Order: sequence, then C-alpha cells, then structure tokens
Amino acid sequence: MSTSIEPVSPPPTAADLAGLGALLRDAVEGGASVGFMLPLPDAEVTVYWTSVYAEVGSGSRILLAAREAGRIVGSVQLALAGKPNALHRAEVQKLLVQRTHRGRGLGTALLQAAEAAARAGQRSLLVLDTSATGNALGLYSRCGYTRAGVIPRYARDPDGPFIDTVIYYKELARP
Ligand SMILES: CC(C)(COP(=O)(O)OP(=O)(O)OC[C@H]1O[C@@H](n2cnc3c(N)ncnc32)[C@H](O)[C@@H]1OP(=O)(O)O)[C@@H](O)C(=O)NCCC(=O)NCCS
Repeated sequence: MSTSIEPVSPPPTAADLAGLGALLRDAVEGGASVGFMLPLPDAEVTVYWTSVYAEVGSGSRILLAAREAGRIVGSVQLALAGKPNALHRAEVQKLLVQRTHRGRGLGTALLQAAEAAARAGQRSLLVLDTSATGNALGLYSRCGYTRAGVIPRYARDPDGPFIDTVIYYKELARP
C-alpha cells in the first residue's frame, strides 16, 4: 500500500488527533524515550498534540504526517528556532513510525521529508537528540547526521530508569 508524507496544519480533524495520539502511545508503550512516562493518560496525549498544532499555527513548528489509506502511521516535527541569531536552525523532534510499519524505510522517508521542509524554509542546520539505547541511531548515522556527543542520564525511559542521550547535527547543503 502506498504511503504519502505531507505537512499537517490546524485545525486538527478528530481522526488525525486520534491517529497522532495512537502513534505516540504506540511509541511510548514500545519503550521509546520521547518525552513521556508510563502510564500515559489520554489527556496528556491530547494536550501534547493540541500544543503541537498551536505551534504549527503560529509558524514555529512544522508537522509532517505519513499516511496509509488516509490513516496516520508516522510523523516527524521540525521545531523552528525563533531567536534572531538562529533563524538558520531547526530541531528534528518526535520521529515516530508505528511499530507495525517499521523497517520498511518509512522513518528514513520522514527524515528526508523533514530535511526538504527545512531547506524550503531556509533552515540549514538540523539538530536532534535521541536515546543512546533507542532504535534510531542507525538511521541518523546512515542519513548523514554527525554524532556531537553523549549526555549521561539526560532523560528517563518510559518505565523510569535514566538513559543517556546522543546529540546529532547535520548541515544541509545550501541551495
Ligand atoms: C526510529 C524509527 C522512527 C525508525 O522508523 P523505521 O520506519 O523503522 O525506519 P527505517 O525503516 O527507515 O529504518 C529502520 C531500519 O530498517 C532498515 N530498513 C530501511 N528500509 C528498509 C526496507 N525497505 N526494508 C527493510 N528494512 C529496511 C534500515 O536499514 C534501518 O536499519 P538501521 O536502523 O540499522 O539503519 C522507529 O523505530 C520509531 O518510531 N522508534 C521509536 C521512536 C523513536 O525512538 N524515535 C527517534 C527519536 S525521536
């Protein structure tokens, strides 16, 4: 089945809010350290995605969704730095692919779409952090991200233990 990757803007449809919520829950319940702890209340998920849409609406964030037959199966975000001295920079956040759809290149395609969106918005430096024990390290290395370093005990995994975090960056070729 073919998958499309497109930007998402407010207002959210009920189906998209539910789809994004299920995607986030699937990642967290799968052990991904993406900002949330277990148990994860539905209200926390809704508040999170509502705030993401608000930032998309204000122009400080880009949200891309991967869909299969209209249903969201992956997403990625770019948080656009707003300081006057950092308008060339964005942070890649919450690269998520539903567990049933992993290992088929969708994460790579989402990251590449985020890079294209960054280029289109004149953002030439991407930064990100990810768990040192997570499953995204290979993808970021393969996609040309440079490992800047590791911060010990930066966050917790959803079950509680502290985890180290790897910081990556990538300078995009200027047009
Ligand atoms: C990280 C994550 C987004 C990757 O998504 P994905 O769709 O599985 O990514 P890809 O399929 O592009 O790549 C994953 C692996 O599948 C392999 N792969 C890529 N295309 C493939 C294909 N067509 N067929 C089979 N395997 C493939 C890749 O070699 C890659 O292996 P690597 O990690 O050793 O490089 C996903 O695992 C996830 O949502 N994790 C939880 C959240 C998270 O940790 N996000 C990142 C931090 S914010």
